[in-house]
Amino acid sequence: MDNRALLDKAIEIKKSAYAPYSKVTVGAALLTDDDTVYTGVNIENASYGATNCAERTAIFKAVADGHTKIKAIAVASNLKQFITPCGICRQVMVEFGTADMPVILGDADNYVVYTLEELLPMSFTPVALKGEKHNV
Ligand code: THU
Repeated sequence: MDNRALLDKAIEIKKSAYAPYSKVTVGAALLTDDDTVYTGVNIENASYGATNCAERTAIFKAVADGHTKIKAIAVASNLKQFITPCGICRQVMVEFGTADMPVILGDADNYVVYTLEELLPMSFTPVALKGEKHNV
């Protein structure tokens, strides 16, 4: 599946967003290492902080099904400007994607592609946890 097709999946699922508060509807679509597609939407809550972004919904669905390696992710919204993933979603992407993973942002006409490393440089990764520790 190419970038355009993955972004089209994100655009399509965006209609299922539950966003009664912000009215910002977001869709995400990701590709796992075995080429399975998972989609997700933002799911808001009357207690605003309980909101889940579209990217994390898609990632959590994939992981719950046993897919812990993500090859690419695309994100679209109803905002005129291309949406960029929030910091929490970038950190979650780092857990399951590689530094060179393409993150595709756009709409039905155009898109841009960033690597995960570009969006979250010097990130804290699972590898860091294995580092040597001070005794105190
Ligand atoms: N949102 C996402 O779903 N993904 C992003 O990349 C940024 C923001 C959602 C969260 C909330 O429901 C709405 O957009 C406005 O912040």
